[in-house]
Amino acid sequence: MSVICNNGGFKYVVKCFICTIGLVVLYICIEVFVTDGNGPILESISSMKFYGQAEKPKIAIIVVTHRDGTGQYSLALDSIKCYCQARGYEFILIFNDRNEKCGQRDITFQHFFRRHCHVANEIANSTINYFLFIDADIGVVNPKRKIEEFIDPKFDMIYYNRFYNQEITAGSYIAKNTNWTIKYLRDYANYETKLPRGDHGKDNGGLHAYIAEVLFPKRPIEIASCWMVYNQSRNHNDLFTFEACIQTLLGIDEDISGRIKIFKKGTGWCRDSWLTNSLWNSTTDFMIHGWKNSRMINYTEKELPLTIRERDRGRWYNPYAGPLDLSKCTPGNDTWNFDPNIQTTVERIREKLDKYYAQFEMDKINRLSRLSWYFQKKTEPPKKT
Ligand SMILES: *[C@@H]1O[C@H](CO)[C@@H](O)[C@H](O)[C@H]1NC(C)=O
Ligand SMILES: *[C@@H]1O[C@H](CO)[C@@H](O)[C@H](O)[C@H]1NC(C)=O
Ligand SMILES: *[C@@H]1O[C@H](CO)[C@@H](O)[C@H](O)[C@H]1NC(C)=O
Ligand SMILES: *[C@@H]1O[C@H](CO)[C@@H](O)[C@H](O)[C@H]1NC(C)=O
Ligand SMILES: *[C@@H]1O[C@H](CO)[C@@H](O)[C@H](O)[C@H]1NC(C)=O
Ligand SMILES: *[C@@H]1O[C@H](CO)[C@@H](O)[C@H](O)[C@H]1NC(C)=O
Repeated sequence: MSVICNNGGFKYVVKCFICTIGLVVLYICIEVFVTDGNGPILESISSMKFYGQAEKPKIAIIVVTHRDGTGQYSLALDSIKCYCQARGYEFILIFNDRNEKCGQRDITFQHFFRRHCHVANEIANSTINYFLFIDADIGVVNPKRKIEEFIDPKFDMIYYNRFYNQEITAGSYIAKNTNWTIKYLRDYANYETKLPRGDHGKDNGGLHAYIAEVLFPKRPIEIASCWMVYNQSRNHNDLFTFEACIQTLLGIDEDISGRIKIFKKGTGWCRDSWLTNSLWNSTTDFMIHGWKNSRMINYTEKELPLTIRERDRGRWYNPYAGPLDLSKCTPGNDTWNFDPNIQTTVERIREKLDKYYAQFEMDKINRLSRLSWYFQKKTEPPKKT
């Protein structure tokens, strides 16, 4: 008591206090300048501000495929595994079997819809905060990018628009672990029973009908107009017209309802390989779609440098130089070995994609202009556009 209260003791306490503050400031300075803002204190603060939780959110990549899918998509899956190990995400692989929760009751569940049923069950039974669901033939070309760039905690479901048509991509989405999401995905899987006959586009066509129903319950008339097309869909041209019709309801904003966000063309986390003949650049690209082992081809010396022109939509070149060694995919390792012949400049990629973008916008207008056909009783189908 007397020690603390006498002059000398008080000075000691003040000194100690100043000293402690000094150390804390010094520590924060270290976080800012040395670790580039990646220390625990600053991360907690920024996580709290963004996600509303002090710990960094837990993120998983989830793939649902049939049992022999792992062989057919091994390069894509290895790249995803390597990426998860390097970035500290969990990797979840689920076999798309029928089980008591997905596919043994009244609904048979066709392969594609059943995937979303499995994802819903996985989320319901997990403490992971965000799930990036991807098709099994999606791989990573740019491990420096992070899934966090695309997460917006305001939304339960995040999608992106496919580049080459008017479709929302059903084959990849970010699902936030909420009760709303779990119900949304279960109802989506069950939506299989509501599809029209004809060319309904499986879970991808169905997603458009389903999303419209979820988002616009007060707009039955507008939705019915699009369904006039969907009910008559006999080929992809009809299907894409139906999807363009739904897109007119979604509008051009990314935030539609406060629940669902849809990244516009070219701004999502993934794109198709064939758009640029497999060429990529780290400024624009992150994940690439379309890596089926059986369709991978090699180039010959004579073909170099590779053209960026579209050739065959299924075939693709391996962007890696040498095998992906999973034992070397250690935390923080984002320097993989790439084949320089498959890389190109960002300018070349952008030029190519911009040209396509304009072309696909014209396709959209053509499709919308065909809408009236479906409201008339004609015998001839409209000309293919
Ligand atoms: C949740 O996971 C546990 C452990 O893996 C498993 O035993 C259980 O059946 C799962 N529950 C559901 C609802 O999937
Ligand atoms: C979510 O659903 C579970 C199980 O039905 C329930 O226990 C929990 O309270 C719900 N959470 C919220 C935030 O509503
Ligand atoms: C589409 O077909 C279904 C099933 O035949 C029918 O119930 C629905 O009313 C049709 N919708 C439109 C807009 O024609
Ligand atoms: C491409 O080259 C690799 C390695 O030389 C070889 O294993 C593979 O069979 C080749 N693929 C084709 C389609 O020729
Ligand atoms: C990082 O991982 C890649 C892919 O497996 C590997 O080729 C590379 O050698 C690793 N780099 C280091 C520094 O371990
Ligand atoms: C991407 O484009 C930039 C700008 O043209 C270029 O400097 C870079 O080398 C390219 N390569 C890769 C792998 O991103």
